[in-house]
Amino acid sequence: MSTPWKVPPETYVDCGWQNARLPLSCTTSGVLTQRAMPLLLVLAAPRATCWARMFRFLRVQIIHPCRAKCTWCATHKKNPLFQKLVDNGMAKQIHDFYIETIRRLKPEEVFISGGEPMLSPDIADFLNAIAPHVKLINLFTSYQWSAGDRKRMPLDRMPLDKIVFNHTPIYFEPDEWEKLTQGFPFDVYLENLQHFASLPARKRFKFIINHERFPEEFQRFQEIVRPDKTFMLSLKVINDQGNGLMVDRMTETRALINERVQQLDTLIEGEGWGTIRRTAGSLDQMAVLLEDGDVERCAFRNDPIELRFALDPKVRRGKAVLRYRYCPYFPPDFGHRFHIGRDDPALLEQNYFKGDFRKHCAKCRFLRYYAGTPKHLDKEAAGSTSQREEAR
Ligand SMILES: C[S@@+](CC[C@H](N)C(=O)[O-])C[C@H]1O[C@@H](n2cnc3c(N)ncnc32)[C@H](O)[C@@H]1O
Ligand code: SF4
Repeated sequence: MSTPWKVPPETYVDCGWQNARLPLSCTTSGVLTQRAMPLLLVLAAPRATCWARMFRFLRVQIIHPCRAKCTWCATHKKNPLFQKLVDNGMAKQIHDFYIETIRRLKPEEVFISGGEPMLSPDIADFLNAIAPHVKLINLFTSYQWSAGDRKRMPLDRMPLDKIVFNHTPIYFEPDEWEKLTQGFPFDVYLENLQHFASLPARKRFKFIINHERFPEEFQRFQEIVRPDKTFMLSLKVINDQGNGLMVDRMTETRALINERVQQLDTLIEGEGWGTIRRTAGSLDQMAVLLEDGDVERCAFRNDPIELRFALDPKVRRGKAVLRYRYCPYFPPDFGHRFHIGRDDPALLEQNYFKGDFRKHCAKCRFLRYYAGTPKHLDKEAAGSTSQREEAR
């Protein structure tokens, strides 16, 4: 029997199709089977507008080189490709596709990664184009730019009331920082941070809980930056973004993660930052997987929470190709491909329900933190190999 998964009723609010769903009697208390869903998709296709608000979160990658060279991040290795796409106009084509998709799907929150979005000359226009369609824009930035670059940033043209500037501090200590950023001056970084601290926009700092010295890092940050009410905090884990780069570190810190994940609500308070709000993130949603390694409990598998795009490093016949995924922890080598200008945008929603992506959950990057023997997904996903072996 195929694995059932839940479709949350709120996914389809404002949607005529929701009513059409129930009489088809392939649901039991809102549970659809993987076999029934493609049939529903065919029936629902003419009513494409009813997919509005399907994904609460949508993540895009701005095509612009990142000048930072953080040793743990694989993105800067794509710089030559980013630059090529900027020069040949394909970056604009990709950004226009994002705008169109955001207008169509109307996610509550958009997450903007890069490259380095703050260095893109088109960033203010991009933000203004999407702002009317979303509640919040989360923009990731490295704070690794020169004072001159900072002065040229069109901050006065940005919809600051909708933006949260997100940043992950790396130990927040000059020696460690210069080593991990391959030489970016700590004082220039601090000036950039302090300038943004004074802006009337929200700032979120995502601390990495794998760091053994997280309490010290956190303490220093408070002393130096003096965060006010415009600051928010969250916690994250290191991720195997570099296609193997971080695996050892992830495995080494497993015990720490297992311990700290139990304390997500109190960890920051315990470090003396009780007045600043901690915002929940994917780590909160994923913590349940560490209890028994059962991916069927994963929120991202069960509900269409998120759609994320990244550039496919292979440009085919001069056409821009994106990869898209439905969760933050998919194996680095997997992603559905979307060919801009060729593929039907409805695929972005349809493939969520089609379900094939769930076969790759056996290689969920988050499962590296699970210490026991994960439960098997189903025969197709795990084959004769245990998921624990696959997850490594
Ligand atoms: C890839 S960067 C791109 C946007 C921007 N240049 C920046 O540095 O924020 C987006 C986020 O990914 C984070 N990141 C990069 N490599 C990571 C890894 N291996 N594990 C967890 N987060 C990582 C960065 O710290 C940053 O917060
Ligand atoms: S890969 Fe991991 S996070 Fe993604 S849907 Fe599967 S179990 Fe969930």
